[in-house]
Amino acid sequence: MERAVALETLAVHAGREDLAGLGVHALPIDLSSTNPLPDVEHGGESYEAIATGGHPTEGGFVYARLWNPTVDRFERALAALEGTGDAVAFASGMAAFSAAVTAAANRGRGRRVVAVRPLYGGTDHLLASGLLSVETTFCAPDEVADAVRDDTCLVVVETPANPTLDLVDLDAVVAAAGSAPVLVDNTFATPVLQNPAAHGAAIVLHSATKYIGGHGDAVGGVLACSSDWATSIRPIRAITGGILHPLAAYLLHRGLATLPLRVRAQQDSAQQLAEWLAGQPAVAHVYYPGLPGGDPRGVVGSQMRGPGAMISVRMRGGHEAAARAAERVRLFTHAVSLGGVDSLIQVPSSLTHRPVEASARPGADILRLSIGLEAVDDLRSDLESAIGA
Ligand SMILES: Cc1ncc(COP(=O)(O)O)c(C=O)c1O
Repeated sequence: MERAVALETLAVHAGREDLAGLGVHALPIDLSSTNPLPDVEHGGESYEAIATGGHPTEGGFVYARLWNPTVDRFERALAALEGTGDAVAFASGMAAFSAAVTAAANRGRGRRVVAVRPLYGGTDHLLASGLLSVETTFCAPDEVADAVRDDTCLVVVETPANPTLDLVDLDAVVAAAGSAPVLVDNTFATPVLQNPAAHGAAIVLHSATKYIGGHGDAVGGVLACSSDWATSIRPIRAITGGILHPLAAYLLHRGLATLPLRVRAQQDSAQQLAEWLAGQPAVAHVYYPGLPGGDPRGVVGSQMRGPGAMISVRMRGGHEAAARAAERVRLFTHAVSLGGVDSLIQVPSSLTHRPVEASARPGADILRLSIGLEAVDDLRSDLESAIGA
């Protein structure tokens, strides 16, 4: 394509440039676990190239744990949407995060991570557990400069953060990190609302399980980054075996085409529901960046193109009221995960953030809502009977 095209166009066309030449219209799926090699020399060269972080040569993709054409297509599309040179896709968001931390810790700076709280409970748990043999300092966004040292290999930040929807000023965090690379979890915002690489993030992480797939039927993760970082990350994927399955890659890639439409429609409903929730006597506080006071750093409109479609609420009746609401809904589904076409509700302290140490765990009175594509009036009346009764 000659000129830069709009996000909506890119979402439909990225990673499909060669389809007409192949004589197909839908994304092809290559389910081969192994690939025929032209000859020993070229096969070996390709193996070596991929296992050391490069691209296949004339020997092809070699073996599906190393790389796969359907996965490669999805990666190219996602990189185009995030405005990065490359992307590497994994079997889950956590597999992607583990590979990013492992790659960063092996680039020679040291094995210390600085992580801005709050984070998704699984990310917090993994870092706090020390399982990846890195030492993590948790801090607030304005403490990053003090926390970063010469041996800090990665600064981890999530914005909007899960579950309190805190928005972090990425320019400020990247400046505070200095020469330490910054990983931004962009799962809640999606490339539709935010492109962290444009603010200096070295790695952009997505749990593609969420908005990118959008239909609750595929688990995956992806790291959008420079080709230099991809060269560090791809061998880890090849060696540890965390690659995305081609069927999931197909579903995630297909999801990209409707991502801008879905995110904006879900966001419109979320804005209306957040405003309504803020007036409900059963609700003590609504966490939503589109409400007055919900974006104290002025991130929406500069770094973010909208407040997103996730809402959290603190219930006046405490944990009992939050749990009751989650169990009483009829249209919302009481389930973990988020970002799909159907609305989900959960109590993070009991589920997604259960493994987080008590002092950093969200309140037991907080409910998290992922707003889907149902009619907003139907969602409102479902919530009304669940929280009001
Ligand atoms: C913000 C965020 N990051 C990362 C993850 C982990 O992704 P996955 O469940 O695909 O491993 C999640 C999962 O809920 C998430 O919400």
